[in-house]
Amino acid sequence: MKFFIDSANLDDVRKAVELGMADGVTTNPSLMAKETGISFHQQIATICGMVDGPVSAEVTALDYAGMVKQGRELAKIAANVTVKLPLTPDGLRACRVLADEGTMVNVTLCFSAAQAILGAKAGASFISPFVGRIDDVGEHGMSLIAEIVEIYSNYDWDTEVLVASVRHPTHVLEAARIGADVVTMPFKVLEQMYKHPLTTIGIDQFMADWKKSGL
Ligand code: E4P
Repeated sequence: MKFFIDSANLDDVRKAVELGMADGVTTNPSLMAKETGISFHQQIATICGMVDGPVSAEVTALDYAGMVKQGRELAKIAANVTVKLPLTPDGLRACRVLADEGTMVNVTLCFSAAQAILGAKAGASFISPFVGRIDDVGEHGMSLIAEIVEIYSNYDWDTEVLVASVRHPTHVLEAARIGADVVTMPFKVLEQMYKHPLTTIGIDQFMADWKKSGL
């Protein structure tokens, strides 16, 4: 299972890279907007230089021609740019064009298995179902992941299931049990995964005993 960091923040990315846990990065316009005094393309270029894996950069055009134009510009930034397109008819059309040109595409804002099928058929490298936002409206986001993984396993599609809108470590565990290809998570969730009170207590105990022993 690959771990992507869901952030446009360079410190987050750096810390995840130092931990050896960043197989890629996902950004979106809201995450970019949190970073002040940056240029969008420059920020993507910097992140692309920090990780070897895919870095998702989202278009802001909503029409087919605009998406293709922006997607081509983003793809020029670095070889590991993945163009992020919304799951709309224009987005699916643009996905096919960019994928045929050899550009990785992440089809985002997926909320149903039917949409996920369309993303795969459009040649997306990644499909991003948003589990947290589905949970937020009283449905079960992980059931959608299980459904998509099951459907994709029936075919030879190369599209990877990228679990997005991850809010806590349990989302990561459930995605791993289902066998999702990728989970993208805020750095905070990665930290929550390694922190455990018994690990801290265990270290304190070992250090206290070691000190007492005089060894
Ligand atoms: C995925 O690529 C998105 O950037 C992200 O996971 C959305 O998460 P949110 O629902 O917490 O905004």
